[in-house]
Amino acid sequence: MRKRILTGITTTGTPHIGNYLGAIKPALELAGPENDSYFFLADYHALIKQTDPTEIEKSVKNVALAWLSSGLDCNQSHFYRQSDIPEVHELTWILNCSAAKGLLNRAHAYKALVAENAQSQNDDDKAINMGLFSYPVLMAADILIFSATHVPVGPDQAQHMEMARDIAGKFNHTYSNVLTIPEGIIQNDISVPGIDGRKMSKSYQNIIPFLSSEKVLQKSIAKIVTNSLEPGQPKDPKNCTLFQLYSFFASQEDVDSMHQAYKDGIGWGDAKKELYKVINDEIIPIRERYLDLNSQSDLLNDLFSDGARKVRPQAKELVAKLREAIGISKVE
Ligand code: TRP
Repeated sequence: MRKRILTGITTTGTPHIGNYLGAIKPALELAGPENDSYFFLADYHALIKQTDPTEIEKSVKNVALAWLSSGLDCNQSHFYRQSDIPEVHELTWILNCSAAKGLLNRAHAYKALVAENAQSQNDDDKAINMGLFSYPVLMAADILIFSATHVPVGPDQAQHMEMARDIAGKFNHTYSNVLTIPEGIIQNDISVPGIDGRKMSKSYQNIIPFLSSEKVLQKSIAKIVTNSLEPGQPKDPKNCTLFQLYSFFASQEDVDSMHQAYKDGIGWGDAKKELYKVINDEIIPIRERYLDLNSQSDLLNDLFSDGARKVRPQAKELVAKLREAIGISKVE
């Protein structure tokens, strides 16, 4: 049976090399012609954490361009914005009435904030909005509205996948089997180090930007922290940020020779040059597409409306079935 693959991309920030390796690349690898694939921008999810409209708009644009430049093909995959499918919110309410509050109390993002509040002796609910609390229900609606069968997500989303299955199962049991129970494809946790060696993350300000010019790329690679060993002194590739980053981009053969070069005492400057070269080689075609897409005014708006036009009829059809199942349709 054909798989229906669906995944959502929260539109916060600008994608960096860590997002590219950990989320964009593995998801696009699943989008071959043997599957139906649905990729959408989870812009209403972004609202939970971001209240600056300019930032929301900028991020939707950058995230969309990052995926499109990396090879997302709108003729082969469905690509749309969550906010263009209002049926998602109707389903969210229906699911809210099947979702146990006790289940959502256990969601880790919510629990972490409650724990933080307890530690700082604040009220349990300080700074927690209902969006954050019911986030997993909106995510379940995103998935169930298109009857997705397989959902690739990072390990941090595994719990939300279980919740989506649980909530859908409860609905089907209460009414009738309208919802498809989705399976999570939990991707490996690719831990990409940032320039200071900690996990690459916008909040640590240690990112290597992805849609940047060669100059900016070169500059951020130059900032990667190394130890003070001189050229000629043997170096240890283990736990070395530079070597780890190199391994993500280089062929096995090149990784092996770099391993040897470390033992032979390659200088940090030369190792950085090699790293720049492998990253840039991979990014050249992506950067070219990005510059091209970015120069076409209204391209994104056209793609968004095309995407929504193609998938929305399915959402409407499912909502009609759900309404019938729950007794909100024609009266006899
Ligand atoms: N919560 C996901 C994340 O932060 C994004 C997301 C929203 C999602 N809706 C989804 C992922 C539906 C998969 C399916 O990564």
